[in-house]
Amino acid sequence: MISTLAWTPEGVRFIDQTRLPLEESYVVAATWEEVARAIVTMVVRGAPAIGVSAAYGIALGAKITGARTAAEFAPELERICAGLASTRPTAVNLFWAIDRMKQIFAPLAAAGKPLDEIRERLLAEAHAMYDEDISACKAMGAHGADLLPDEGGVLTHCNAGALATCGYGTALGVIRAAVERGKRIHVYADETRPFLQGARLTAWELMADGIPATVLCDNTAASLMRAGRIQAVVVGADRIAANGDVANKIGTYNVAILAREHGIPFYVAAPWSTIDLATGTGDAIPIEERPAIEVTHHGGRQLTPRGVGIVNPAFDVTPVKYVTALITERGILRPPCSGSLRQMELVGAAWG
Ligand code: MRU
Repeated sequence: MISTLAWTPEGVRFIDQTRLPLEESYVVAATWEEVARAIVTMVVRGAPAIGVSAAYGIALGAKITGARTAAEFAPELERICAGLASTRPTAVNLFWAIDRMKQIFAPLAAAGKPLDEIRERLLAEAHAMYDEDISACKAMGAHGADLLPDEGGVLTHCNAGALATCGYGTALGVIRAAVERGKRIHVYADETRPFLQGARLTAWELMADGIPATVLCDNTAASLMRAGRIQAVVVGADRIAANGDVANKIGTYNVAILAREHGIPFYVAAPWSTIDLATGTGDAIPIEERPAIEVTHHGGRQLTPRGVGIVNPAFDVTPVKYVTALITERGILRPPCSGSLRQMELVGAAWG
């Protein structure tokens, strides 16, 4: 299995996703600041992977702090959490993971527990998030595989695979599970300009697993759909608002509209940590603007005239009306989502 991120005695090790697919290399973040840098520079990316990386960043901060007591460490923890939270604004998993770590710290600190015990508990929580993420992906796969055709083309956008999670993947997890059940799926991977997560990462991951895959330029999807080559679309998500609107990689909205026009189901696979019930609709989701150089340059070469205006939002919002179903580890939801998301939250709480 691909090792996207791992806790090691030296720090948090990441497969360097900026160098794939040509080079499979690893970097080790030895401080929480280096973890934050890895998130900003997209060495590690994908909503669930970012969340768990931040949790390990906090555990790392606790491990190497010079503080001797929880009270001494508390202001440092605030700085660490603020620093990690400022890396990328859209994927809610980041904030979910940071909050979860704070909730471990607060009662232990209030109870005057020794810092060594708190360190262990913080690391155990990060490990738990890692394991839960893989289990959630497997559960999404089990639920979602039924929705895919026994045979045919499935289009995906960006990379919502093992590289975007702690393993197995969300959208690609659904595809993997369908293939494991014997379904004959051919994956069509949008290249995903400008960062090329589809062309570089999804294609690499699927080829490593022997799953048939074809890369297409983003502007090719409509004609493939019209030609009858796509039977379903499955994508991941960075944040799902309470009404079911979905923020995901820029270009997802285009795909959703095209799928509707061609009568093709559009599925979104995401763990519960991606659902943000505190955000009412997609309009309130903050959308990250990435550096212009990702659009103006490719492989170190300039593509556009110097000084031209550039717009580079990393994500867009697909209104829930285009979503055929949300695939979560707790089951499948079909719009209207608002009430059912809240109900599932209660069910989840009862299970938890
Ligand atoms: O900018 P990225 O590469 O972090 O964007 C990733 C995506 O948009 C994924 O589709 C999303 O995080 C879901 S990953 C399981």
